[in-house]
Amino acid sequence: YEFSKEELAEIEKIKAKYPDKKSPVMPVLWLAQEKFGHVEPEVQHLVAKTLDLPAAHVYGVVSFYTQYYGKKMGKYVIDVCTTTSCQLCGGYDILHYIEDKLGIKAGETTEDGLFSIQMVECLGACGYAPMMQISNGVYCNHLTKEKVDAIIDGLREGKMPEFESIPMPQHLDESTNKIG
Ligand code: FES
Repeated sequence: YEFSKEELAEIEKIKAKYPDKKSPVMPVLWLAQEKFGHVEPEVQHLVAKTLDLPAAHVYGVVSFYTQYYGKKMGKYVIDVCTTTSCQLCGGYDILHYIEDKLGIKAGETTEDGLFSIQMVECLGACGYAPMMQISNGVYCNHLTKEKVDAIIDGLREGKMPEFESIPMPQHLDESTNKIG
């Protein structure tokens, strides 16, 4: 694994934004994941070497955030939230339903390399529980088994679920975005 000249120039720009040399690790890991599709240990070493940081520091960040993929993942990563709100609204039922449907457990990837499942912590959409996120992108809210079926069938055909706009709470004035 290596970065191109252009990527190294981009990394220099990222580094220039931070006074602390440990701080660029997150954007640089993100850049690496965009390029390689994951940040396996070899990629983590590349990031550590490029930023002149201990590999343990980079590993600490990768292993803390489920958004960084410390191993090769499927084409679609299904992040199912099982924190309190989602749990109370059936998050584990949704998780187990997806596990049964795909024939894998959370943390695993299907043999055809299409899907991985992760059990994740709160994704900040508790009011729309139970929810899941696809590949660090679109949020799928108010899940039911039927909705999960439609989403997974769509993904099998290469169709990402539609972005669901989240309605503005009524106590917010949409024009000013201030509490009114
Ligand atoms: Fe699931 Fe917050 S508890 S999004």
